[in-house]
Amino acid sequence: MAKIMDDSSKTVFGLTRDLFDTVVNLRRDLHCHPELSGDETGTTEKISNYLDTLGISHHTMVEKTGVVADLPGQKKGPFVALRADNDALPILEETGLPFTSQNHGIMHACGHDGHSSMLLGAAALLTQGTPLPLPVRLIWQPAEELGTGAKSMIDEGVLDDVGIIFGGHLDRRYPAGTLIVTEGPVNASTDTFHVRIQGQQGHGARPHEACDAIVVASLMVTALQTIVSREVDPAHPSVVSIGRFDAGTAPNVIAGSAILEGTIRAQDKSVRTHLQSSIERMAKAIGQLHGAQVSVEFKFGTPSLVNAPEPTALAKSAAIDVVGADHVEPLHTANMGGEDFAYYLEKVPGCYIRFGGQAPGREGFPAHSSRFDFDERALAVGAAWFARVAYFAGKALFRGSL
Ligand code: NI
Repeated sequence: MAKIMDDSSKTVFGLTRDLFDTVVNLRRDLHCHPELSGDETGTTEKISNYLDTLGISHHTMVEKTGVVADLPGQKKGPFVALRADNDALPILEETGLPFTSQNHGIMHACGHDGHSSMLLGAAALLTQGTPLPLPVRLIWQPAEELGTGAKSMIDEGVLDDVGIIFGGHLDRRYPAGTLIVTEGPVNASTDTFHVRIQGQQGHGARPHEACDAIVVASLMVTALQTIVSREVDPAHPSVVSIGRFDAGTAPNVIAGSAILEGTIRAQDKSVRTHLQSSIERMAKAIGQLHGAQVSVEFKFGTPSLVNAPEPTALAKSAAIDVVGADHVEPLHTANMGGEDFAYYLEKVPGCYIRFGGQAPGREGFPAHSSRFDFDERALAVGAAWFARVAYFAGKALFRGSL
């Protein structure tokens, strides 16, 4: 195991025991007082308070739900940005932890309390260490769970003068002391579709007088399954899932209308477009086949998250520096979840990694479950990595090699 396992050591992955304890306490305080996406004003106050104790000037954004702090560098130049998210989920916590949520029905079930506190740990490290080559911008972003927070921060100028950006997420599948760094796509685009089928309501005993929306919608459910299996290159992961089928009023009434809703995931931009056009083509063709009116609408979500080669190399070097090459791995399987960090990467190059944080005994409880927790030693690894990558990227940008 990595050196973090030695609890008696005076440092934990480059953090003094004191700083590690501070970061753990910050995390527990945030965990105790979770706030939903868009309501993170109490959370930003706690972040602000700790930045004040470090003497770091900062300001809030997006109606006091986000925080930004700029640290000066030796040279004026583009910022190296480090980003954490700070929102919780509408879940009733069942972990039984001593610092369990005090806000009924709201829980930090995705580890964003961890991300926010590890970035505070990085802030402490960056003010203590050798001078930074280039300025560093620390970003605590709201509303990641809605996929809207990054966009709001960008709209308010958080990426102005930023040359490169880094972020990460806790991952229960890997032990603490492991960092997962992967070049290329690491999260999928997340769009939703809404299909409305308008047939003709009628008597259950006289189907010839009606146009049965349930039969038409059922054919669509079956046909849409063939898009991923028959039309998309199997080397490009993608998903079409129908999560809602709403139709009918009574056993002896033929449904006049039906609604199908689902989610579309893809890692490749052209696959994303292909899935949308195929859903529309098939749904309309099946409607026409049976004389039903069909309308298809899409709600576009986060784009796929793609790590660029050079930032990924920097993220990997920093990871090796923190945990050693034996504890740096690529993602073992494609992740089809969404992550709004993708919006930043549409504007500037960067890399999004994963922090191993498997909590012993809780392996079966994934993120977004009421019993989710992580190994707090991952906080030290995350803080150290954030600080290290800020130096590494600053040096690389300083030399102009990016
Ligand atoms: Ni998350």
